[in-house]
Amino acid sequence: MFNIQNRVAVVTGASEGIGHDIAIGLAEAGTDLIICSRNKQKLEAVKTEIENLDRKVATFVLDVCKVSEIEKLKAFILKRFGKVDILVNNAGYAVTKMAQETTEDDWDKMLDTGLKGVFFCSQIIGSIMSEKKYGKIINIGSTFSHSTIPGRSVYAALKAGLCHLSESLAVEWAQNGIRVNVIAPSAVKTPSREDLLQGDILKMVLGRIPLGRLATPDDLICAIIYLASPASDFVTGQTLFVDGGWVAKG
Ligand SMILES: NC(=O)c1ccc[n+]([C@@H]2O[C@H](COP(=O)([O-])OP(=O)(O)OC[C@H]3O[C@@H](n4cnc5c(N)ncnc54)[C@H](OP(=O)(O)O)[C@@H]3O)[C@@H](O)[C@H]2O)c1
Repeated sequence: MFNIQNRVAVVTGASEGIGHDIAIGLAEAGTDLIICSRNKQKLEAVKTEIENLDRKVATFVLDVCKVSEIEKLKAFILKRFGKVDILVNNAGYAVTKMAQETTEDDWDKMLDTGLKGVFFCSQIIGSIMSEKKYGKIINIGSTFSHSTIPGRSVYAALKAGLCHLSESLAVEWAQNGIRVNVIAPSAVKTPSREDLLQGDILKMVLGRIPLGRLATPDDLICAIIYLASPASDFVTGQTLFVDGGWVAKG
């Protein structure tokens, strides 16, 4: 039931961080991959890693905020792979700033990447899944959808919106066999969070996690494989917290 061998997966924001780890984890589980981000050079390095795992892989330079580019991705997928089974909407942009300091540009970049991008990638790539009446869309959320700290107002709002968007799409697209779920991690030590997760902030974060550690890529990949595989075929519209108990603690 957990077998996802020979499925085709699209991962956005796969050039680094969590997206990179998800792409490698999916390849290790036997899927073929289309890896996307705005940075061709970084994608090529990830491609080499995946080729070393003997999986078919293609890179696609994509800004998820641009609908015309997502349309081109759809054509590329159909030409090169003929189908898509799994979409992981991982690309994200976050700034930690007090509400009074947050600019229009901060707002636009966070929401365009984290909500507009997710919506149109789901709509356009999901239309390929609809043809086959089967597909799995996994959106990467955050514990900040259900909790917050100072400096995270916009990010928290967009991740809360992402959960509700996912519920709405799950309801609308169930008739097309498309399952839409969210994986919501607490802090994951990726290079982009390295500077933030130090000293007092790290102490505060660990203090809020009953299991007492940060999330690892493996924690996320196991959840991804579950939501990507037939094991979760009756699960849709859900947010799965992979957070060591952060949200439960409140
Ligand atoms: N790290 C954490 O602690 C944590 C915790 C909870 C949730 N999350 C969520 O996990 C996801 C990944 O986070 P991360 O920490 O791995 O972030 P990251 O290290 O900053 O990586 C972000 C990725 O998204 C891509 N990206 C950004 N804007 C894009 C755009 N407009 N179009 C296409 N790709 C774009 C970047 O690639 P390019 O620059 O090459 O385009 C990069 O591959 C995000 O949704 C984030 O909210 C992270």
